[in-house]
Amino acid sequence: MSFVPYSKRKYEPLGPKSKKLIERIDRHSATNYSPYPFVVESTDGAYLIDPDGNKALDFLSAYSAVLKHRHPGVIEAVKKEMESGSDLVSRAIYSSRFADFVEIVHEITGYERVLPKSDGGSATDSAISGLLMHGGAKGIKNPEVILTKDYFHGRTWIFSSNATFDPDQVGRRVPRAPGVVVVDDTVEAIANAINENTVGVFIEPHKGEGGPLFSNKEYFLGIRKLTREKGIFFGADEIQTGLGRCGYYMAWQEYGEEARPDFVTLGKALGGGIIPVSAVVGTDEFMRIYTPGCDGSTFGGYPQACAAAVASLKYIRDEGICDIAKDLGDYFVKSLSGIDNIHVENRGLLIRVEIKNADSAKPACLEMLLGEGRNPRVFMKHGHTNEETRTAYTRIAPPPGAMTKALIDEAVEKTIAPVLRQASE
Ligand SMILES: Cc1ncc(COP(=O)(O)O)c(C=O)c1O
Repeated sequence: MSFVPYSKRKYEPLGPKSKKLIERIDRHSATNYSPYPFVVESTDGAYLIDPDGNKALDFLSAYSAVLKHRHPGVIEAVKKEMESGSDLVSRAIYSSRFADFVEIVHEITGYERVLPKSDGGSATDSAISGLLMHGGAKGIKNPEVILTKDYFHGRTWIFSSNATFDPDQVGRRVPRAPGVVVVDDTVEAIANAINENTVGVFIEPHKGEGGPLFSNKEYFLGIRKLTREKGIFFGADEIQTGLGRCGYYMAWQEYGEEARPDFVTLGKALGGGIIPVSAVVGTDEFMRIYTPGCDGSTFGGYPQACAAAVASLKYIRDEGICDIAKDLGDYFVKSLSGIDNIHVENRGLLIRVEIKNADSAKPACLEMLLGEGRNPRVFMKHGHTNEETRTAYTRIAPPPGAMTKALIDEAVEKTIAPVLRQASE
């Protein structure tokens, strides 16, 4: 039988229960996502399980938020807090768990102060407001923050109004948020954009959604040096790259202590995949701008969020998740090397796969997840395509705490490598 390219195949839900659930969801859900037709009924370690009994290895980890599905330590900590501690209390008073939270964030990051939020977008928003408030405090009437093209910092108005990498969004963007300037992602372009109104530069150490695309030491230290010389702040969005994913607590640490930004944003894995927890974390000088009333949120730093974050951070620290991510990420890339037309690169367990001569990585991703008889099934999500070079990207980001070399071997030998071999047209 001749080979039918994946792009010409039709992928259906794997069973009748999944099909029915998808119909129910599609009838009433907003259409802001375009999900693959796989329904999750439960999760376990590295696996997603559907209501028809099919399993798939989760190599997206909820965009890096999951260290290990249904992490027992985090669940236990949250349960304990729910049963014997408190429920929701506001930051208008103090809470015990908040003490544990700020101390461990300080210990892990080396920064002096923590502003807790819930989702990543609200933390990055707070970071930008903080920067702009510094401008106001300095007497700058129209302060500006520099972001770089192809960034992803969440989907709040500030950031979605400037989303630059998603061609589908062109023409649907809302008006640009004032005070935000977007430039090419080079030290030179950033240097050229700095003027008397500039208060800071905010970047991702490695681009997650816009890639993954990896930075290098010269670039990162270049921005650090430049911002120091100009007396402006430098912030890094570690929401996707931080907390072990790239082999460090914060990805910038790869470049040494001299690279330390003035502040970072953390999220995703901070809540262990159980509770949304995010934060702006920075030096005393940067963080002192947040005076009472200028920022805050009902769920930011509430006891259960703090319990989840403390358990996640202890797990990352005590289990050596950074070293695990480095070791397994390098192993993964080695196992995938040598396939014609495929280039693979990584920082820890954030892995970029380039497929040459392909219009999209989506058909290959669908085949890995839903292809007939595939075992093990593997879930990774397609990224962007460079239309000029016909290179399509996908990202592999497995849950570091649930990965083993045996699982990688099985996934690569039986599913990923055979599909990638056929993915280039
Ligand atoms: C680098 C980065 N910043 C911010 C966000 C936004 O986080 P959230 O989706 O929790 O709002 C994301 C989410 O993917 C991200 O990757």
